[in-house]
Amino acid sequence: MSVRGFSQETRYSGYHRTREPAEDAELTHVRPGTPCGEYLRRFWQPILMVSELGAAPRLVTILGETLVIFRNGKGEVGLLHKHCVHRRASLEFGRVEENGLRCCYHGWLFAPDGAVLETPGEPPASRLKEKVFQPAYPVREYKGLIFAYLGPPEETPEFPVFDTFELPGSESVTYCVPYGCNWLQIMDNSMDPVHSSFLHTSISGPQFSAIFGALPVVDYHERPLGFFYTNARRVGDHVWIRTHDNVAPNMAQSGAVTSLDGGKERLFGRAGFSRWIVPVDDTHSKVLALRYFGPRSDPPRDADKTPEAFQMLEAGGLRDRSYDERRRHPSDFEALEGQGAIVVHAAEHLGTSDVGVAMRRQRLRASIRATQAGERPVQPMDLAKGGRVPSHAGDTVLRAPARAGADDRAAILALSRQVAAIYVESEALADAERQLVVERRLRELSQ
Ligand code: FES
Ligand SMILES: [Fe+2]
Repeated sequence: MSVRGFSQETRYSGYHRTREPAEDAELTHVRPGTPCGEYLRRFWQPILMVSELGAAPRLVTILGETLVIFRNGKGEVGLLHKHCVHRRASLEFGRVEENGLRCCYHGWLFAPDGAVLETPGEPPASRLKEKVFQPAYPVREYKGLIFAYLGPPEETPEFPVFDTFELPGSESVTYCVPYGCNWLQIMDNSMDPVHSSFLHTSISGPQFSAIFGALPVVDYHERPLGFFYTNARRVGDHVWIRTHDNVAPNMAQSGAVTSLDGGKERLFGRAGFSRWIVPVDDTHSKVLALRYFGPRSDPPRDADKTPEAFQMLEAGGLRDRSYDERRRHPSDFEALEGQGAIVVHAAEHLGTSDVGVAMRRQRLRASIRATQAGERPVQPMDLAKGGRVPSHAGDTVLRAPARAGADDRAAILALSRQVAAIYVESEALADAERQLVVERRLRELSQ
């Protein structure tokens, strides 16, 4: 197959391929006014962990915009454009007060919503403050994360609450891991379970679990909010069906992490973490996440709540390692950042194992174009049942011994489709009831 922009698919074609085609700007550029930037701005996005916001105002860059975030004396969080509307001083040097943030230059005081509360250098009768507003965005604190909505205010969607955020008996902690590359290659990685068998097992040695060495049977399911997929493996007499959510535009959930054991029955285990792949700018991203501990994900252990544990969970390796070590045991950091600051799609050669990546990009492009055409994207809360958005990520392990003479991969695929159908058919039930129904139906599948 010849690649767009190149005519030479032959041995020793280096010379003919030195001029790289451009990146796919429509899917990767996120600044204000870009097609993808406009699409991503239609959703609530986490921008910071609550623990990262201290008493002083600070800068936070998100979707290519550098903003100032602060918490006033009343505890309210404000997210403002960086430059003061008066004469453009940076509000990062402002002073936090009871009601808002006071600019260091001439003392204008701004409320969290951008209202000008005081203009002390103006005459007392001045009405200037009634006519001027500091540009601001709405924020929402939830489970230790600060979310913001950077889109048109008249389209502000309802704040999304997924079932996984509120599971009974579950504890959540936040983490943040930065990446030095475009957001889409991190998102693509979350639709690519095949790399776990190579990067995270045979190439680098088992980084998550040796069980990942077996090439999974993967099956994708398209849903109104995005995709979920199953990757299933045989583990002795059991089949381990691991399910991942890939929710548009940039959220992903996977199953348990430390309690991975495909050899023991598990029925409808739930997500071990929810993560948002948030673009900082076109060439930097950060993953902000909720990591879950509880009876349906992983047992709580202090060792799993350290910055190192979160990096291992994110990428399979630590960021701060010697170059030699990174070459011997590369992780997702090396694989994804090594693709370049913005991966060039036109120079890739996708195969059948990249079908998830290709489907997701196609859907993303369609959503971006629909937004450009004035359509409102489907929002998570459009699909909510009882105030929670149903999701699927987690682990089910069923007893299903291989049959002599039968095609085992076909049998594993058929079983994973039955499991996926049970997950989908139970979406309309509220969580406690859903758990009971799904467990009962899965038990019937076990042999
Ligand atoms: S520049 Fe901010 S008050 Fe003058
Ligand atoms: Fe990975």
